[in-house]
Parts: sequence; C-alpha cells; structure tokens
Amino acid sequence: MDLNLKGKTALVMGASQGIGKAIAEALISEGVKVALCSRSADKLKKTCEEISADTFFAADLSSDGAGKEVTEKAIAHFGKLDILVTNTGGPDKNNFLEVSSQQWRTDFNSLWLSLTESLQAALPSMQKNQYGRVLMVTSIAAIEPLPGLTTSNGLRAGLSGLARSISNEFAADGITLNLLLPGYTNTDRLKALNLSDEKVKAMVPAGRLGEPCELADLATFLASEKGAYITGQSIAVDGGVLKSH
Ligand SMILES: NC(=O)c1ccc[n+]([C@@H]2O[C@H](COP(=O)([O-])OP(=O)(O)OC[C@H]3O[C@@H](n4cnc5c(N)ncnc54)[C@H](OP(=O)(O)O)[C@@H]3O)[C@@H](O)[C@H]2O)c1
Repeated sequence: MDLNLKGKTALVMGASQGIGKAIAEALISEGVKVALCSRSADKLKKTCEEISADTFFAADLSSDGAGKEVTEKAIAHFGKLDILVTNTGGPDKNNFLEVSSQQWRTDFNSLWLSLTESLQAALPSMQKNQYGRVLMVTSIAAIEPLPGLTTSNGLRAGLSGLARSISNEFAADGITLNLLLPGYTNTDRLKALNLSDEKVKAMVPAGRLGEPCELADLATFLASEKGAYITGQSIAVDGGVLKSH
C-alpha cells in the first residue's frame, strides 16, 4: 500500500528509544522527515544517526514550556509540521496514598501539559496547511487501570476525553487526532518488570509481548492520507488485553 507520506514532516517525542523510536523509524522508512525529542542529547544523537532522522531536540518535557518550545523549533526547522507524535516516559509506580503532590505535578506536566502545549503550537500551522495528524501515545491504563500506576491511570483516562473534544474542533481542517494505547510492549520500560513467559501468557490473550514496530505500523497508517477519516479514537495495540473497549 502506498501511504504517500514522502516529503511530510514529523516531530516524534520520547523518541530516543522504545515505542517513540519505532514510530520515528517507521515514518522515516516511508519518506517522512523526522525530528526526534527526548531528554538525553547523547541518546538522541546516537538514535538520530542510527535511524537517519533529520534532526533532534533535547528537552525535558516535564518542564514548563518545553512542549511548546520543541514544537516551535520543529516548525521553524521544517517550515511546517504535518505529523506530531506526543510521548514521554512512563510515570513512577505508586499506590494512591503514596503519591506526593510533587509527583502529581511532575506527571501532569509530562503526560498532559507538554502535550497540550505542543498541540497549541502545532495546530495553527496544521490548520494553515489543511493537513495534520496528531498521535498521542498513552496506555491501556487509560481504559482499564493498571495496579500501582495511579497517576498514569488518572491522567491518561482524561486524555481520551480531551482528544475527542479537540478532534471535533479541527476535523473540518483536515486534521485528525488519535490516541495509541500500547499494551505490554517489549521495550526497556517493560524489561525492568522482568515478566516471565508464564505471566505474559496469563495476562495477554495473544500469549506474547507486543513489539514496538507493531504500534509503529498503525501510527504510520494513521499519519497518512489513508487515515483521513479516523479521528478522536483511542486504539489499543495490546494482543487482546482490553475487554471493555
Ligand atoms: N512498554 C510498555 O509496555 C508500555 C505499556 C503501556 C504504556 N506505555 C507508555 O508508552 C510510553 C513509551 O513507553 P516505552 O516503553 O517506549 O518507554 P521507554 O522505552 O522508557 O522510552 C521512553 C522515551 O521517552 C523519553 N522520555 C522519558 N521521559 C521524558 C521527558 N520527561 N521528556 C522527554 N522525553 C522523555 C526517553 O528518553 P530520554 O531518557 O532520553 O528522555 C525515551 O526515549 C510511556 O509513556 C509508557 O508509559 C508503555
């Protein structure tokens, strides 16, 4: 299938490794010019060279204003921004009574505010070009809470409502907004959990972890003109874990 993505431009956040890197790599393989963002300039430089990305911007997206600043840099670099992929690291694990106010603030900044800031910077430019694809990487926790991931469960559930609201406002401008909900996916974040094959089989009907490239293939389709009529959706890539969606 020709996705006709050649010459499009993208900013992919949380892209030095894992799911973000896989999405960036998949877009590049379709001819998209991609800018990467994450905190570590060293990791970004290595990934940028490895996957032939166009450029990178190091920024901590949990800092005030970072989402806006990075998005404006990407627009200035390319002259336009067709595709925005919002993504950051997963928050610390804590039960509700253990979550400090500081953790709420940090996780809100990282998972929510960086996203709204970058959307406010990107959408006017997409509107001008009458083309835009926004993909927000969140989690299956947005639909069914995961044990101990209190801030993720709360903040990510709200993002689904936000995406529906924004997608209504911009649908007539050729702009789509969708949420990608990874299930248990084979990245460094998950490796830390040391899940045995037996545990994975008990949790995941498909009987295996997802690969980042499986989510990236969906992202690439949604980023293309073929995805023009899909907007405001939360789409899980989870091997059948979610039952209520
Ligand atoms: N893997 C899974 O099974 C799974 C399941 C459900 C949801 N998710 C969610 O999907 C997202 C991506 O997960 P992943 O597995 O790809 O994680 P990962 O391998 O840990 O990668 C996270 C990426 O985000 C960057 N990052 C982290 N904090 C950042 C910040 N404050 N500002 C800017 N960049 C930041 C990291 O690079 P630097 O270190 O250079 O900043 C890295 O490139 C996370 O939000 C995670 O919670 C993952």
